[in-house]
Amino acid sequence: RTPDPCVIVLFGATGDLAQRKILPTLAHLIHDHPQPEKICIVAFARRPLDDDAWRSMVLTSLDKYMPADDKLDDAGKTAFAQHLFYCQSNFDDSEGYKRLGQFLAKLDQEQGTSGNRLFYLATPPDTDLEIIAHMGEAGLAKPMPADANGKQHWVRLITEKPFGHDLESAQKLNQEIARVFHEGQVFRIDHYMGKETVQNIIAFRFANGIFEPLWNQKYIDHVQIVVAESLGIESRAEYYETAGAIKDIVQNHVMQILSLIAMESPAEYSADDIRDEKVKVLRAIRPLTPEQVAKQTVRGQYTAGMQDGKPVVGYKDEKGVSPTSTTETYVALKLFIENWRWADVPFYIRTGKHLPVRSTEVTIQFKRVPHQLYTPSEITSLTPNTLILRIQPDEGISLKIGAKVPGASNQLTTIDLAASYNSAFDIELPDAYERLIADCIIGDSTLFIRRDEIECSWRIIDSITSAWKQMGSETVYPYAAGTWGPREAETLITEDGRKWLNPA
Ligand code: BG6
Repeated sequence: RTPDPCVIVLFGATGDLAQRKILPTLAHLIHDHPQPEKICIVAFARRPLDDDAWRSMVLTSLDKYMPADDKLDDAGKTAFAQHLFYCQSNFDDSEGYKRLGQFLAKLDQEQGTSGNRLFYLATPPDTDLEIIAHMGEAGLAKPMPADANGKQHWVRLITEKPFGHDLESAQKLNQEIARVFHEGQVFRIDHYMGKETVQNIIAFRFANGIFEPLWNQKYIDHVQIVVAESLGIESRAEYYETAGAIKDIVQNHVMQILSLIAMESPAEYSADDIRDEKVKVLRAIRPLTPEQVAKQTVRGQYTAGMQDGKPVVGYKDEKGVSPTSTTETYVALKLFIENWRWADVPFYIRTGKHLPVRSTEVTIQFKRVPHQLYTPSEITSLTPNTLILRIQPDEGISLKIGAKVPGASNQLTTIDLAASYNSAFDIELPDAYERLIADCIIGDSTLFIRRDEIECSWRIIDSITSAWKQMGSETVYPYAAGTWGPREAETLITEDGRKWLNPA
C-alpha cells in the first residue's frame, strides 16, 4: 500500500533516541518514499530553535548516526532538510499545543500533507501523561473531517518504551491515552517486533507443517531465550538506574519473543488475532510468589573486567551511577507457561550488559529419544536435538541432529543443519524502526503492543521486582564484565540437570 501523506510530530526531538535512531530512520524512509514531498516532520520541543537551526542540528546527527552505507549525499541531505520544521513550546504549556494545531493546519495547506497526523512520543515517560492530556485539550487527537472527496483523515500516536515503570504507572498511562485516543490509534513500539527474525518466528511456526506437531510439552524439554549484550550502559545511567535489566529488556523484548514462540496459531494473520494469542500466553504466566522469585531468578551486576581485550569499569563506577547502586545489569530467570501446550516446560531467560558477545537467540531443546539404541560410550558427544533461532547478529536458524561418524564403529556425534539469512536472501535486512514507522503510517498495528498485552507483561515483572525489594541487595551477585554472568545463575539451571547454551 502507498503510505498516505502525513505530518509526523516528534516529541522529544532533540533527545538522544530521536537524534540517534528516529531521525536517521525517517531520513531513510522519506528518501525511499514514493511521494516524499507529502511527508513533513515537525519537532515539538522546548529549546528555542527555528527551522534553520533545527535542520542543521538534524543534519549533524545524520552525519554522525546514519549507517555508513545509508548516508545521504549532499543533495539528499538538502532534500531531507526541506521536510523538517520546528514548533517551539514547553510540554506543560497548553497554548503551545494550540499553536501546534495551527502550525499543522498551515503545513497541510502549504505542503499538501492532507490532514493526517502521526504524533511520536520519544519522551521520558514521566512527561507522557501531561503531553497526552494537553493534546486532548487542544483537540489534536481528533481526525479532521473527511475531505471533499470523502477521504477520511487519521491521527495516530506512537509511544516509545519504557511504557510506564510498573503495572500501576502503565495502567495510568493507558487510561489517560484511552481518554484521548481510541486503541486503534495507538501504536506502542517495541523495536524487537520490527526485526525480521522476530517476525519470522510466526512464519517458521505456522508456515511449516513439520515443527508444529512437536511444539509442545510432549517433545520439548525446555526453551532458552538469551539477549546478551557486549556493551555496557553507555551514557544512559540516569535511565538505567531506574530500570535494570528486567525492565529494560525482559518486560518488553523478551516477553515479545516468548509470546511468539509459545502462542497458539492465530485465526488469521491480523493485528488483533495475533495479539489475542500473545496475550493468552502472557496470561498463562502466573505472577511469581516471593518463594518462586527466590528460587527462579538471579540478579547480577557487572564489576570491572575485560571486554574485547579492553578493560572496562564496574557498573558502580560508571558515570551517573550511585556507588551503592543495587540495579541489576544481568538477570536469569525460569518461567512456566501454565497451559496444556507448555505445562512443566521451563523457559530459561538470560539477559545482561557486558556479556562476552552481542547475541540474541532462542533455543528449543527437544527431549531425548525414548529408547537409546546406542551404548553410552557411542553417544558421548551426542547432544539432544536443538533448534536455534538466531535473532541477531548472524541471523539464521540451525537444527542440531545426531549423526553417525563415518567409519567402522558406531560412534555418534552432533551435526548442524543450518540456514543463514545472508546466504538465503541476498538482501540487507531492513531496519526494525523503519519497518515499524512505515507500518504505523499505513495503519497496520500487527507489530505493535496492545494495551492488555503491556499490562499482562508488567503484572509478571511486578511480581518479581516486588519480591526483589523484600529480598534486599545482598542477592545482587557480582560478575566480571566480559563473562557470562554470576556463578549463581549456573545453579539456577544446573540444579534442574540442564545447562546454559551460550551463543558462539
Ligand atoms: C533497548 C534497551 O530497548 O534495546 C537497550 O533500552 C538495549 O539497553 C537495546 O541495548 C538492545 O537493542 P538491540 O536491537 O541492539 O538488540
